[in-house]
Amino acid sequence: MTKIISIANQKGGVGKTTTAVNLSSCIATIGKKVLMIDVDPQANATTGIGIEARDDGNTIYDVLILDKNMKESLRKTQIQKLDIIPSNIDLVAAELELIEFKSRESVLRRKIIDLINSLSEEERYEYVFLDCPPSLGLITVNALTAAHSVLIPVQCEYYALEGLSQLLNTIKRVKNSSNPRLSIEGYLLTMFDSRLKLANQVESELRKFFGERVFHTKIARNVKIGEAPSFGKPIIIYDPQSMGAQNYMELGKEFIRRNEAARKS
Ligand SMILES: Nc1ncnc2c1ncn2[C@@H]1O[C@H](COP(=O)(O)OP(=O)(O)O)[C@@H](O)[C@H]1O
Ligand SMILES: [Mg+2]
Repeated sequence: MTKIISIANQKGGVGKTTTAVNLSSCIATIGKKVLMIDVDPQANATTGIGIEARDDGNTIYDVLILDKNMKESLRKTQIQKLDIIPSNIDLVAAELELIEFKSRESVLRRKIIDLINSLSEEERYEYVFLDCPPSLGLITVNALTAAHSVLIPVQCEYYALEGLSQLLNTIKRVKNSSNPRLSIEGYLLTMFDSRLKLANQVESELRKFFGERVFHTKIARNVKIGEAPSFGKPIIIYDPQSMGAQNYMELGKEFIRRNEAARKS
């Protein structure tokens, strides 16, 4: 089975794209076949993995709005087992254009199902990660409808928990309408600075509320993580020795461990 995970939080700058790029890269490096789908018009996941965000007729916009075959839009990345469906700024228009579609919430889901059905056993992806835009609009709702689970990055700062209830309401709404199977993959503490009392408070609050749903692995604030995207490289290639690379590799292992344990039970 292919598991589809949306990385979502309507707050901007909390580490969604960084997590999409680096978790995908680490899991692929561990040896699982992974697809990352960039569904943010800002296309930071596309450029962050080293692919130019241009309108070449093979972007997620073409897939969603012009009914382009998703398989034809697959691109290889510098990581052997990681492919991507790129985005570009055209996707801004999709937020409005999708309104006209019938079953407008499940356009992306149908395209992903078609893709999965068209792949051979060898081509099959084990995990598909969707990098969501910073809003709770129709594109994010499409991503939540397409997914088995949601991974929620939480930046350890003031008001970190503010807005989470809005996201959880949207998730609940999607569960009650277009996607009853949707679950929470986990909450991920990002840009963590253990020297800050506030960061530690956010952590203990999150663990108190959400218990085991919070990943044990925390992503520390690390300058190398901030630099890597401008070189179009995931952190494990840009600086494999960095704390950031170690954190995301640890997260990749935890993610796989949890999923393989859940599959057996
Ligand atoms: N652990 C980290 N340490 C340092 N900088 C980070 C870290 N995670 C993300 N960043 C930087 O913070 C900014 C916002 O992260 P990003 O992943 O783009 O957030 P989002 O996709 O949620 O808007 C980016 O410039 C990114 O490089
Ligand atoms: Mg982003």
